[in-house]
Amino acid sequence: MAEVTRKIGLSLGADLCWPASYEEIIKRLDLSIPMGRDRIRFDVERVKVEPYDLEYTPKYDLVLDRITHWFMTTREWVKKISLMDGVYVLNNPWSIQANEKHSTYCAMMKLGMPIPKTWMLPPKDYTDEGDVLVTVKRYNKLFDLNDVGNQVGYPNFIKPYDGGGWVGVKRCKDERALRENYDASGTRVQHLQASVEGWDRFVRAIGVGPQVNVVRYDPDAPLHARYMVDFHFLNGQEWLKAQRICRTINAFFGWDFNSCEMLRKDGVFYPIDFANACPDSQVTSLHFHFPWLVKALIRWTLFCAATRRPVRLNLNWQPFFAANDPDMSFDDKLPLYDQIAREHFDSDHFEEFCHEHLSHLDAVAEEFFGTDRFKEITREKVSALYPKHEIDQFTDHFFGLIQFWRKTERDRMAGPVQP
Ligand SMILES: Nc1ncnc2c1ncn2[C@@H]1O[C@H](COP(=O)(O)OP(=O)(O)O)[C@@H](O)[C@H]1O
Ligand SMILES: [Mg+2]
Repeated sequence: MAEVTRKIGLSLGADLCWPASYEEIIKRLDLSIPMGRDRIRFDVERVKVEPYDLEYTPKYDLVLDRITHWFMTTREWVKKISLMDGVYVLNNPWSIQANEKHSTYCAMMKLGMPIPKTWMLPPKDYTDEGDVLVTVKRYNKLFDLNDVGNQVGYPNFIKPYDGGGWVGVKRCKDERALRENYDASGTRVQHLQASVEGWDRFVRAIGVGPQVNVVRYDPDAPLHARYMVDFHFLNGQEWLKAQRICRTINAFFGWDFNSCEMLRKDGVFYPIDFANACPDSQVTSLHFHFPWLVKALIRWTLFCAATRRPVRLNLNWQPFFAANDPDMSFDDKLPLYDQIAREHFDSDHFEEFCHEHLSHLDAVAEEFFGTDRFKEITREKVSALYPKHEIDQFTDHFFGLIQFWRKTERDRMAGPVQP
């Protein structure tokens, strides 16, 4: 048997905690996976940014990228290596560049998802570049903002059509607030969206390949406490539904790694924000849920690298549209969409791979997250974000929550049924 090494590149920005944990756990797994006539080993390396010949051959089999959406050199590099050299890249750079919040709303509305009523508004202001002002003068139709506000209903949210990080998101309780917020919204194209009032659960579904975790979320809590540690906040059917919604979105847009915000009201999930490819992955936000994410990234990237999962650079929306029977309710269509999504992610094959080759991951990770090395990693991340006098307190806080996770994990592993 020949020994073959698959090279995984981590393309990073300010990330500290998840890559360090990812690297440590892969080292501890010490994998040598039989595949055909080879034994596959893995080598993980952090990608450096440097000039390159467009015809050079990269050394990576897979690149897990976190910066494509704002770091152009890397965005264009991941395009080159996936297009020319067949490197599997998470996430598809074309899909990230082309599909922002707006197109995700449109696509999922078309599939029947209950997205709250949303209008698009031209920006309030324009900068004088090229033919912009002459175009606006000639063709922008004067409109009555109150009329749009009334069509959408109050309260509503005005927010950038390609938003992220809560920047420029304003709740408008009446016409006056809408006018003030629109007048202050600057040069970005805006959405005006009906508020989901009186929701009783706010969840974030985090998807990595076919794996989806659903976490309760509190948008009003301080940043470190928004992802909640809570159990049984959805019933089994709802959990499955939230997973299916997230998996459908991720498969539709070719995102291997994305999160979906949903509000539950009267038993219905209203997705409101799901163009979050490369979502928050920090221990300082995810704490208790951080190990799930690191393990999910490990499983999916090892699977893709080991099996040489082919890169799919073109999106294929037709199967979803074909399953979109206008006579069926969304709840009835969702399992059909999910079936397409599971096939997209080669889920059965992935699950077999994990069962066969990564069965020790749970135990290795459980042990790792209790080590001094992991505490050091947590401290490094906390030190990068918190003032000096809070470093000890928050290191203990996040590390402590993960020790609680280890306890629940040990109970789960000892339990009669392994999910
Ligand atoms: N339609 C809505 N109904 C209720 N709350 C909303 C709605 N839209 C946005 N919000 C609130 O505003 C926050 C930010 O909006 P979101 O669409 O997630 O923007 P961003 O992409 O900047 O995160 C959400 O997390 C939620 O708390
Ligand atoms: Mg959001």
